[in-house]
Amino acid sequence: MGRIRVGIVGAGTIAGLHLAAYAKNPDVAVVAICDLNTERATARAAEFGAARVCSDYRDLVTSSDIDVVSVCTRNDSHAEIAIAALEAGKSVLIEKPMAVTVAEAEAIVSAEAANPGFVQIGYVRRYSSNAVTLKSFIDAGDLGPLYYAKATFLRQAGNPGGWFSNRSISGGGPLIDLGVHFIDMCLFLMDFPEVKSVSGYTFERLGNRGNIQGLGRYMTADYDVDHNSVEDLAGALVRFASGAVLMLDTSYSLHGRDNQFFEIYGEKGGATLEPALHITTERHNTLMELTPTIDSLTFELEEGFQNEIDTFVRTAQGRGAPVAPAMHGLHMARILAAIYESAESGTEVRLGPIVTLALPA
Ligand SMILES: NC(=O)c1ccc[n+]([C@@H]2O[C@H](COP(=O)([O-])OP(=O)(O)OC[C@H]3O[C@@H](n4cnc5c(N)ncnc54)[C@H](O)[C@@H]3O)[C@@H](O)[C@H]2O)c1
Repeated sequence: MGRIRVGIVGAGTIAGLHLAAYAKNPDVAVVAICDLNTERATARAAEFGAARVCSDYRDLVTSSDIDVVSVCTRNDSHAEIAIAALEAGKSVLIEKPMAVTVAEAEAIVSAEAANPGFVQIGYVRRYSSNAVTLKSFIDAGDLGPLYYAKATFLRQAGNPGGWFSNRSISGGGPLIDLGVHFIDMCLFLMDFPEVKSVSGYTFERLGNRGNIQGLGRYMTADYDVDHNSVEDLAGALVRFASGAVLMLDTSYSLHGRDNQFFEIYGEKGGATLEPALHITTERHNTLMELTPTIDSLTFELEEGFQNEIDTFVRTAQGRGAPVAPAMHGLHMARILAAIYESAESGTEVRLGPIVTLALPA
């Protein structure tokens, strides 16, 4: 088949990574870029050689010369744009989090089911060599049944500001922004187990830390120290129907050092995925520490995005089944909503049974 013709909605930070990866895929032509800020769209189009720009996503998603759409806008607009694109017959790569509410996630699932296109959620960590390698060990049974995962994604110096710090747009703070990566990693490695209950907590104690001096950090263009309606710190204990448990904590603001790790434990072995892949196991009554010999043991942003985009393009060409369908985003939306509900109520929240989420073998 010919080249896959791509449209990008949202020309901000993450769109830069999508565009850089599309540019390296020989099966792709980026046709149009849309942003409410046309200057930004025009600059991106010039940088990556897109023929057209527009400011209304409807013009892009209904264009007959576009096959697939990357949705790279702020969280609250993912559902509206993705559904319009699916209804126009396109496939969509939707940045994480897929949606900010369960109702929006359900609407995307329905739109995917009712239309010819497919959804791929931008869970970029799944595509990194360290995760791909670990998943192959898990699928081969080397770690045995998995029963425990521990994930920490702590930032200390404040939220990025702008829409990230506005709950009505972002849907929340570090939990929905950063925690989502590691919740998905746990679901992915455990083959999308059913969730039985969650017990969550959030704190809003330090705010966005606009007072901090002498430390460079990412801030959005419309950063405003007086505006912040998201949590500083969130965490949860997630119980799966299998009996397995995930312990997670994540922050934007904290009196502590930035810290990022993901560990998962099974009956035959355990693994650290981040900061770097490492496997601990037992052979012949002897404990073994195994470090795989691969190009990169760590999560590499550029590699993750390249593999994510290449997978999306291959699937659009009909050369593989969808790997991160909307149902995975609905599962996530239910978990996130339950964690926020549990934090609010101070009690454990039980989740009802869900349909099978596992990918076809
Ligand atoms: N996968 C990752 O690791 C990762 C990392 C960062 C951000 N993200 C996700 O990417 C998305 C975008 O984040 P960002 O940091 O690029 O934000 P950003 O603010 O830098 O860019 C968003 C862009 O979308 C535009 N926009 C907003 N609403 C629009 C609409 N209705 N139509 C057209 N354009 C619109 C804005 O003008 C802006 O240029 C978010 O959902 C975020 O969670 C993912």
